[in-house]
Amino acid sequence: MMEKQCKTILDKYRKGNGSVISILQDMQEEFGYIREDAVNWFSGELNIPASNFYGVTTFYSQFYLKPRGKNIITACCGTACHVKGSAPIIEKLRTDLAIPEGENTSKDGKYTLESVACVGACSIAPVFIANKKVFGKVSKESADDMISFIESKKGKKNGK
Ligand code: FES
Repeated sequence: MMEKQCKTILDKYRKGNGSVISILQDMQEEFGYIREDAVNWFSGELNIPASNFYGVTTFYSQFYLKPRGKNIITACCGTACHVKGSAPIIEKLRTDLAIPEGENTSKDGKYTLESVACVGACSIAPVFIANKKVFGKVSKESADDMISFIESKKGKKNGK
């Protein structure tokens, strides 16, 4: 199954100017994350060391080495958001969404809570993004609005 999808990606790059980064982008699009078995497959087919693929994935934050949840909540961890109290909101979300300690995705795969540096909306700090919708001036109380949005029809459409 995995091999068939990888072959489709490889055919595309055999014809043009394939690069490790383009293959990784397609791999992530196909599987949702960078799968170890797929990296090994490409490594063998292209005679490129797997470490070259991992070098790129660890350099660019766009790549994920673990499956992500169906819904993504991004917490801004920039200075303004931190000062305005993002940390306790993040803790509340971790508890409410049952995300295990040391992980960023809930066990049921429904939610991923990840962090980024300043998203450029400091005037409405603390800022969170739930399935691509920006929420500003979030408080512990209003954090539930993000979950309600995700559960709504529109929020589901914004997810995966
Ligand atoms: S620090 Fe969060 S938007 Fe700038």
